Amino acid sequence: MPIQAAVLAGLGAWLPPRVVDNEELTRRLDTSDEWIRTRTGIHERRVVDPGVSTVDMAIAAGRKALRSAGSERADALVLATATPDHPCPASAPQVASGLGLSGIAAFDVNAVCSGFVYALATAAGLIAGGVAERVLVVGSDAFTTLLDPADRTTVPIFGDGAGAVVLRAGSPDERGALGPFDLHSEGELAELLVVPAGGAKQRVSDEPRDHFLVMRGTAVFRQANARMAESSLAVLDRAGMKVDEIDRFVGHQANIRILKAVARQLGLPEDRLVVNIERVGNTSAASIPLALADAAGDGSLRAGHRVLLSAFGAGLTWGSTLLTWPDVTVEP
Ligand code: COA
Repeated sequence: MPIQAAVLAGLGAWLPPRVVDNEELTRRLDTSDEWIRTRTGIHERRVVDPGVSTVDMAIAAGRKALRSAGSERADALVLATATPDHPCPASAPQVASGLGLSGIAAFDVNAVCSGFVYALATAAGLIAGGVAERVLVVGSDAFTTLLDPADRTTVPIFGDGAGAVVLRAGSPDERGALGPFDLHSEGELAELLVVPAGGAKQRVSDEPRDHFLVMRGTAVFRQANARMAESSLAVLDRAGMKVDEIDRFVGHQANIRILKAVARQLGLPEDRLVVNIERVGNTSAASIPLALADAAGDGSLRAGHRVLLSAFGAGLTWGSTLLTWPDVTVEP
């Protein structure tokens, strides 16, 4: 039997209703709307209310993706998240049950902001190996739950949300077929973006800050610029494609300056960048599917467009993949 490709057949996204704009942040942090807009491109972000979790958001986005695919069926669920509801167990089985899919294979992938691209590759492997025919891939992160509310270097950057796609077995020549993939990591630089406590190395800490995300922003910025550009070129090379064949670049929405710097390095015109960071901030594993849903919803991403997805995150991790956009409908 020929190897089956993973073909994108449905897309959905969900954002918490609570909007926190930059102005609101200036009332509790030593920052300004002007600084946040010019240094990051972010105007506002969505934040979960207490009690709303990564699983809740994943179920809401997953339900929309299944409806978009026109079938409630999936044989496996891969959840990309760095903010599972509990340190143990994984959150994916609860997402599957919440969607009426109890019994299917379900597990988490943690590659932080690169998680969605890693989860797509994992799902494509399940399909290629004949383990599953339809896989729901969800990126869901309640990243604001990791932040020190008094830390002006992280609070303006991150937001919460979820996005999901259905992948089905199909032919590599079809619209929507994913691949090739390019994935990498560099554990030597784990401390650039880290929550020091709460894991096996330091279960609890008397220092509350150890339970919050600590970020060395400028070093992360430089790495993201270089790695997303490198990986984009690598995946194009593997596909035998040139940059000017790409119609839409959907990069992880970490900072508008990073997206523009990557476009500059690639020689890609800025009007091919998909950008929604101004309204959502950095939503970690949800970033790419949220950007896809926004662009497909407003018509800037259309069937037949050749799309490059590229992500970078803590770990460090980074990776890219390609697809030709299929004819999918997205609910608002
Ligand atoms: N408001 C106002 N000033 C702030 C601020 C804020 N929210 N946060 C930092 N500053 C100050 C700094 O203290 C510094 O002041 P100083 O020059 O007096 O020391 C100045 O602004 C510049 O800070 P710096 O960190 O050098 O700015 P930068 O250009 O690197 O931008 C980030 C900061 C965080 C926006 C940028 O580094 C970034 O986006 N990094 C990547 C983050 C990211 O994407 N993380 C997730 C990866 S998936």
